[in-house]
Amino acid sequence: MSFSAIVVAAGSGTRAGAGTPKAWRRLGGRAIARWSVEALLAAGADDIAVAVAPDMIETARSALGELPNITLVEGGATRSASVRAAITALSPHRRDQPVLVHDAARPFLTRDHVSQALAALTQADGAILALPLADTLKRQAGPRLETPSREGLWRAQTPQAFRHDQLAAAYAAWPDDQEPTDDAQVVTAAGGSVAICPGDPLLFKLTYPEDFAMAERLAAGARLVRTGQGFDAHRWGPGDAVWLCGVRIDHDQTLIGHSDADAGLHALTDALLGAIGAGDIGEH
Ligand code: C5P
Repeated sequence: MSFSAIVVAAGSGTRAGAGTPKAWRRLGGRAIARWSVEALLAAGADDIAVAVAPDMIETARSALGELPNITLVEGGATRSASVRAAITALSPHRRDQPVLVHDAARPFLTRDHVSQALAALTQADGAILALPLADTLKRQAGPRLETPSREGLWRAQTPQAFRHDQLAAAYAAWPDDQEPTDDAQVVTAAGGSVAICPGDPLLFKLTYPEDFAMAERLAAGARLVRTGQGFDAHRWGPGDAVWLCGVRIDHDQTLIGHSDADAGLHALTDALLGAIGAGDIGEH
């Protein structure tokens, strides 16, 4: 399904420490914002507006420049101002397709996350990925420590999916003097329904310095190299050619087998299956 996307990457990221704003810091050799943009493109986004702080436009251009379907737009002083700016930057010709809003600070976005959000959008005016709260909550109330119930509470993540016109209308109606903390809040305030689908701990938002250390470890895992080995053997028999790795080689005998007896392809298949821990060709 084709869809549009907004990636908000205009924050200053002060909680993450001094230096380059977090969306433009590098993770596993790529700008953090690029992780999400590439995942959205792989999932089929054909119009992506990326909100960027005005002084970071050149940095964003060099980090994302050659990628297709991208418009860089100046973000605002708050997240919601950045979303508003990005909505106006989306193509007016694609207003009939869903829009996914995503925080650049959540780089481990996958195609599955995108499909889940888009699928859930068929049941409501909006769809978000969210995780139930696992920890006990505490609230400091003066000297007292209260324990509010966590029943029915969720941690909202992004991506969040909406219909273009509903998202635009909800933001237009949202009061300028209040700052929402996500987009579903804006759509529900305008009377829209929002469905929840299962979130993913890997969609955590890079916020504090220790989050970057965790992300580096995960990014290194994503580059993990796996190897596998395979071998195969077939008897010689009467014939005039041998097939190896899909290539016919003239010969005074052939390899005998119930299958095509292509020992090269069988060995390669076993090596690939071994590398992904999925048994061997016989099992399949
Ligand atoms: O600050 P926080 O981590 O909550 O920001 C969430 C996302 O919103 C980040 O990807 C950040 O870059 C983006 N943002 C923005 N414009 C702002 C503030 C935050 O695009 N003015």
